[in-house]
Amino acid sequence: MSDSSLIIALSKGRILKETLPMLANAGIELLEDPDTSRKLIFDTSDPQVKLVIIRATDVPTYVEHGAADLGVAGKDVLMEHGCENLYEPLDLKIANCKLMTAAAVTAPASNSAGRSRVRVATKFVNIAKRWYASQGIQAEVIKLYGSMELAPLVGLADEIVDVVDTGNTLRANGLEPRELICHISSRLVVNKASMKLKHQKIRSLIDKLSQAV
Ligand code: ADP
Ligand code: PRP
Ligand code: MG
Repeated sequence: MSDSSLIIALSKGRILKETLPMLANAGIELLEDPDTSRKLIFDTSDPQVKLVIIRATDVPTYVEHGAADLGVAGKDVLMEHGCENLYEPLDLKIANCKLMTAAAVTAPASNSAGRSRVRVATKFVNIAKRWYASQGIQAEVIKLYGSMELAPLVGLADEIVDVVDTGNTLRANGLEPRELICHISSRLVVNKASMKLKHQKIRSLIDKLSQAV
């Protein structure tokens, strides 16, 4: 790869949908529809820019290792992964939601008297362990890969840690939001070496994207 070529990592779903118009503003448009293609790497209208479309949780890994120069990932994913090996120069203010604990509407508070240990199901194991410890609550954290809302309904866990937007998914399953862990939005992340070696091209992209925010 020459010093001015860029690979940008995105994930299918809301991040791709909300990032593409911002990239288009910066002169980068997909030449093919990723929803109907089985390709994983895509050319764009800028011959020096390619997009790779991967799992949301893999974006920090690709960017950290320089397999992609840049990426877009939710702050939840970045907090869970650890972001010390990445630059995070821009809050794109898309895919806004909240990281919360939630429980059945009938369940007691996790810090209520007489409760020794709370079982927490989540895909955000590191975030959950840190948060319950910070609250002085003993938690047994159970790793899941999705559909966390099911866990309290079938007795797998007392609480969950998940992202909440409208609250519809919680409500539909007899759950309610409890504690706010933090507000979440998606961030542009940049490989540290790329930031130095391809500074001009990356800086100009960051500037154009920040105008689109
Ligand atoms: P995944 O395949 O990991 O579920 P998503 O496209 O659903 O990928 O989520 C990507 C990011 O969007 C998440 O990391 C989170 O920051 C944010 N997000 C997830 N769910 C919602 C939601 N319901 N509303 C708004 N943002 C969300
Ligand atoms: C996410 C998240 C919650 C839901 C919250 O799921 O995992 O289940 O959104 O949004 P709400 O508060 O507006 O209901 P998503 O839609 O990403 O589906 P997924 O299970 O395929 O990730
Ligand atoms: Mg999702």
